[in-house]
Amino acid sequence: MKGRDGLLYIGIDLGTSSVKLLLMDSEGNVMNTVTREYPVYYPNPGWSEQNPKDWCDETITGLKELLREADKTQVAAISFGGQMHGLVILDEDDQVIRPCILWNDGRTMKECEYLNEQIGKRKLSDCTANIAFAGFTAPKLLWLKENEPESFEKIKKIMLPKDYLAYKLTGSFCTDVSDASGTLLFDVKNRCWSKEMCEICHINVECLPKVYESYEAVGTVTEATAKLLGIRADVKVAAGAGDNAAAAVSTGTIGEGKCNISLGTSGTIFISSDTFSVDDCNALHSFCNSDGKYHLMGCILSAASCNKWWLEDILGTKEYAAEQSKIERLGENRVYFLPYLMGERSPHNNPNARGTFIGMTMDTTRQDMTQAVLEGVAFAFRDSLEIGKKSGINVERTKICGGGAKSKLWIKILANVLNLKVDILEREEGPSLGAAILAAVAAGEYKNVEEATEKMVRIVETVEPQAELVEKYEGCYEKFRKIYPACKDVYDLLCQ
Ligand code: XUL
Repeated sequence: MKGRDGLLYIGIDLGTSSVKLLLMDSEGNVMNTVTREYPVYYPNPGWSEQNPKDWCDETITGLKELLREADKTQVAAISFGGQMHGLVILDEDDQVIRPCILWNDGRTMKECEYLNEQIGKRKLSDCTANIAFAGFTAPKLLWLKENEPESFEKIKKIMLPKDYLAYKLTGSFCTDVSDASGTLLFDVKNRCWSKEMCEICHINVECLPKVYESYEAVGTVTEATAKLLGIRADVKVAAGAGDNAAAAVSTGTIGEGKCNISLGTSGTIFISSDTFSVDDCNALHSFCNSDGKYHLMGCILSAASCNKWWLEDILGTKEYAAEQSKIERLGENRVYFLPYLMGERSPHNNPNARGTFIGMTMDTTRQDMTQAVLEGVAFAFRDSLEIGKKSGINVERTKICGGGAKSKLWIKILANVLNLKVDILEREEGPSLGAAILAAVAAGEYKNVEEATEKMVRIVETVEPQAELVEKYEGCYEKFRKIYPACKDVYDLLCQ
């Protein structure tokens, strides 16, 4: 197993349900992939946590499997994509203090209210380009100070999930600009930590990692890692990116006005830009991109996970394609689904929102409900796109990646609900491929991220919206958008 000049690159995507590892050659050919799962813990309704040791154990096992057939001496660089916003804290002995609180954990409603109302959205936006959302890292620190002061007092290092892996493999205490953007401790415009936000959150800026651009090398693997994996000790490690910015690399969402939809556990609509900007009410996240520039992003907390929940947990089947093959009448469904199984981030910013089916009658079928789930996720993306449009962003086409992008039906629904052309790529690996590309840039294989993506990203098909279907879905969306305001108070009641 050899690349053109023999060199190999590894991309590690530390996802929520699993770690996905990918081996790529210097031309961007995927040589091997391995996926290793680990559990998510839900200790209370709306909370979600993971054990960082599980990430490390599964990553090491997965890396050994990934490299089994490869010429290990040819591995030149490694990089990461990873679930964003998670809070990993280490004590003075470098031990993890408590389980990581994840990006889709909704426990910080009170802290977000404090930040957005008392400190004020204007101040937060001035310092960080963003406001507080329940999943972001800063409100988690405030929650910890209030609810687990003994853990808070012990904090010596604060890191994001993928950075913990990098720390274990390289010994380098680092992060990258795209992932740092999601902490609400980072001055996105100036690409550095915000001292003011650190003060507001009562943390010492020394506890935060050194920040790199995504494509920069942070060091090499440790001797111990090299020995364990049988790779050379001079293998470079690049800082990597938050999973969405890493997916943007693999889909070529780099430069002005490009769009990517990620249909993974969470769903994101990601619009890249050469310049820094913030929308009027900070409904979209304004983050650094992995090419040294910026992006705007809407994030829905449950996307492909809604489909998985509905099919596997509720209907008890893994036959995704068979279930979807019976769906025929697009744009005519009278059943609606609000995909707020973990509360919702964009645009509602409401951890109390809940998953909701509405509109069923005695003739409603299993297919109608399955269709409603796919459509509900598409409508939730549309909510974010509408905000972007109001701020003057005009996109006509998007790429797509993530597990949900395997479904042609779901892509068709999205194309018509969003009225966007959807470009399907040769590979929908997303963040793991993006991470491998960042590793290749760090190793000097390509001049920069843009050049790498121009050479490696290939569109194989475009799904065009159809005027008649777009019109039908326009009517459906008008109904969908009325349901959340009608349910909002009930959601609050249900959470009391
Ligand atoms: C983005 C976000 C999610 C996670 C999922 O803001 O919270 O996309 O990164 O892994």
